[in-house]
Amino acid sequence: MDIEERLVRRLRRARHVLVFTGAGVSAESGIPTFRDALTGLWENFDAEALATPEAFARDPAMVWGWYEWRRANVLRAQPNPAHLAIAALEGRVPRLTVVTQNVDDLHERAGSHNVLHLHGRMDRPFCAVCRRPGAYPPGIPDEPEGGRPLEPPLCIHCGGRLRPGVVWFGEMLPEAEWDAAIAAAESCDAFLCIGTSSVVQPAASLTTMAIRRGAITIQVNPNPTDLDHSVSLNLSGPAGVIVPALVDRVWGEI
Ligand code: OAD
Repeated sequence: MDIEERLVRRLRRARHVLVFTGAGVSAESGIPTFRDALTGLWENFDAEALATPEAFARDPAMVWGWYEWRRANVLRAQPNPAHLAIAALEGRVPRLTVVTQNVDDLHERAGSHNVLHLHGRMDRPFCAVCRRPGAYPPGIPDEPEGGRPLEPPLCIHCGGRLRPGVVWFGEMLPEAEWDAAIAAAESCDAFLCIGTSSVVQPAASLTTMAIRRGAITIQVNPNPTDLDHSVSLNLSGPAGVIVPALVDRVWGEI
């Protein structure tokens, strides 16, 4: 791994490490990203028709069925070496904060605790009317590629439709998670930005907050992003290879 000794020493001294992840960290687990050419979800599906409150109001069955297909993918997936290396950092650095834009639970299944989910969680449906939590039936839904229209289950409290527990375009981020993520970005001394195109705001602004604060910032991504020249170090390659190697090199073998 091509990383200067001076930077390694600074990383080892970091008292608060923030790991910020996007869809790329789960790509090697078989979960599609959003914007990668050919395979990205938003390359193949219309976000306006599937990931907005208006879309759900217009055609709840189409939206629910699409998310059931995505939920089935997540249930079948396993954490990859990047999730495991991030989980292994816990206890090795004085303070670790994991902030993810992902709606899967692969960080948790890899062993990370207290993950801040900025864009909600696929496994936490709630009522679109009274907003109380709902529940999925056990098991893995059997959905074809892209899903099929499926009526959402009804809320046991008010009879409203359940909706996926994710943040849609045009919606606010969960306040407590967002406030905690800002506080972490403004107090961390090392910031690892892994597998995100960094185009979706406000989440992407966390990296710029950390850069402004003077934290060491490391980006892991096989493709270029607008942050390539702003971060302290750009590690080009898949997270499942680069992240374990980085953790090994800096904090010792996992
Ligand atoms: P994107 O699909 O925009 O970006 C994924 C990034 O991962 C790209 O920069 C890829 O180059 C990179 N990537 C692909 N494979 C990788 C690998 N094996 N290792 C590391 N990186 C890899 O996904 P996000 O940045 O997460 O919002 O997108 C942000 C938000 O946009 C998502 O949370 C979602 C979406 O609309 C909501 O669901 C609200």
